[in-house]
Amino acid sequence: MAPGEECSVLVHEAPCLAPPHNNISTVLLVIAMQAEALPLVEALKLSQDDTLVFPKSVPWIKYSGIHDGLHIHIVVPGKDAVLGVDNVGTVSGALVSYAAIQALQPDLLINAGTAGGFKAKGACVGDVFVATEVAYHDRRIPIPIFDKYGVGATKTIPTPKLVEALGLKLGKLSTGNSLDMSPQDEEVIKSNDATIKDMEGAAVAYVANLFSVPAILIKSVTDIIDGGRPTTEEFLENLSMAADALLKTGICVLKFLNG
Ligand code: ADE
Repeated sequence: MAPGEECSVLVHEAPCLAPPHNNISTVLLVIAMQAEALPLVEALKLSQDDTLVFPKSVPWIKYSGIHDGLHIHIVVPGKDAVLGVDNVGTVSGALVSYAAIQALQPDLLINAGTAGGFKAKGACVGDVFVATEVAYHDRRIPIPIFDKYGVGATKTIPTPKLVEALGLKLGKLSTGNSLDMSPQDEEVIKSNDATIKDMEGAAVAYVANLFSVPAILIKSVTDIIDGGRPTTEEFLENLSMAADALLKTGICVLKFLNG
């Protein structure tokens, strides 16, 4: 089955993100947390050079370089000016993606980051998933058609060869602006049939789709949402392990794209 074919029959249910170009020379990685991005920045020997790309006033950071013939850019939304923590969530994720796509015109966008996983759907801590579909769980608009818009279910581009070559797992991703999960969130996440839950994916994919940039979402599981342990504790405990898994997967994905 050709890429996109599988999606087109379901297009009214979950539209598909843009299909990839044949030739990929510029890859943009959008990563929300510095702790997730820096191991990859170091391994790829990228240099920070955001001055010409982003307005002076914003905290967004771009690291760039050439690796195995590919132009690689990693952008992060930086730190909150007052609190000094990473600018996680959909707003910063969408804004930095918008600015970076405009400036860099990538052939492919990869949103790499951590996620919570549902053990009932087969997720384990340390797993790396490729999202097959993205949707939101905190945009509840109980008016006909707006309800569907709020959920925003969108299929991603199929990457069966990449998934098989790297031994990655596949699952649907649900995005919201909270690390925890309210009962209302839970209800929507279940109806989204999500295996993993993050705080940026659907928003970054939305921006990529606006500009017809193919997007792949790669998520490393830090915590098991239905596992009984407090999410914050498990997330912080496993963040560096998950960043390491993202590093290894990121390098392999770039090698795969080049090969
Ligand atoms: N990132 C890592 N774990 C997460 C969770 N449980 N919810 C949202 N984003 C996450």
